[in-house]
Amino acid sequence: RNMEIPIIELNNGVKMPMVGLGTSKAKKPNELREAVKVAIDAGYRHFDCAWIYGNEKEVGDGIRDKIEDGTVKREDLFIVSKLWRAYSRPELMDECFNESLRRLGVDYFDLYLEHFPNPTMHGGPGVLELIENGKSVEDLSIDYVTVWKNMQKYLESGKARALGVSNFNEFQMSRLLRECDVIPAVNQIESHPYLNNDKLVKLCQSRHIAVVAYCPLGSAERINVSTLGSPLLDDPELNHIALRLGKTPAQVALRFNIQRNILVIPKSVTTSRIKENMDIFDFKLTDDDMKVIYGLNRNRRYLTAHFYNFYAHHKFNPFRYIETREF
Ligand SMILES: NC(=O)c1ccc[n+]([C@@H]2O[C@H](COP(=O)([O-])OP(=O)(O)OC[C@H]3O[C@@H](n4cnc5c(N)ncnc54)[C@H](OP(=O)(O)O)[C@@H]3O)[C@@H](O)[C@H]2O)c1
Repeated sequence: RNMEIPIIELNNGVKMPMVGLGTSKAKKPNELREAVKVAIDAGYRHFDCAWIYGNEKEVGDGIRDKIEDGTVKREDLFIVSKLWRAYSRPELMDECFNESLRRLGVDYFDLYLEHFPNPTMHGGPGVLELIENGKSVEDLSIDYVTVWKNMQKYLESGKARALGVSNFNEFQMSRLLRECDVIPAVNQIESHPYLNNDKLVKLCQSRHIAVVAYCPLGSAERINVSTLGSPLLDDPELNHIALRLGKTPAQVALRFNIQRNILVIPKSVTTSRIKENMDIFDFKLTDDDMKVIYGLNRNRRYLTAHFYNFYAHHKFNPFRYIETREF
């Protein structure tokens, strides 16, 4: 059964599929290339990539295979990449942008995001960013608003069909909206039943900024942090609802975002799960289900659990103004 993934229209008219394949952390050689091919065959068209994931070549290989065998054309796909924060300075930006294009084997992005609002110092060739005493070094010579303004050239040149941000908190989003003419099409943030991020979601959606949820399944691979408690997908309420609906807890977690009009980018390299994660449009959570799932919120950030200490000291660390960390 080949399923159609619904699309939403961004604030500049560009159309974006509501489910995309997450690509970070795929480790084995060829694993991601195969996953991308499986995903395209199943009906995925949207791929969430980033320079920092270091695997855009593999995604690109999978995409090229499926274009060459005639399954899809480039214009059927929705390819996202992100400017790494160590390339925030204007003289460095193009290097990051062009390297992502080259690795993915495409000549434009459907959406390009400012990955983080806290620019860091470039660490030299082959280094992700400058690290001193085990900590990431912030670059205060350039501001996230300036970076956003500088990114507009990609829209003008047609090398990006839409531009957005990621990991901007309410304060940063509000400031961006105050100081810029171009409203981002997207803010990509962490969202799942244990961190529903409702205030930030509502702020974005009220300004026609689409919210894309990362770690929508509670990011199982990041969970070996002892303080994080039991995995999201083991949650008894999610399992209870899933059982009643004949769905899986993963599908219920994804559907929770979809019904809030939030796009999801679950990552999987497992064929059955890739299919499962897009099979979420033949059922509906009731208002009561939604209420129960809202009630599960505990502000648990899976992303920061791993990286928080690495950049907690940054002035523009997006997770520090409004952080209510319980772990
Ligand atoms: N903008 C940002 O700063 C940012 C930050 C984090 C993530 N992201 C993006 O968001 C994507 C998703 O986040 P994530 O990868 O951290 O976590 P996630 O999608 O919440 O979880 C992925 C994990 O769940 C497993 N999984 C997938 N489908 C499943 C299912 N149906 N049932 C049970 N387990 C399942 C995967 O295993 P297998 O792969 O082994 O099947 C993998 O271990 C990333 O890949 C990346 O593209 C962006």
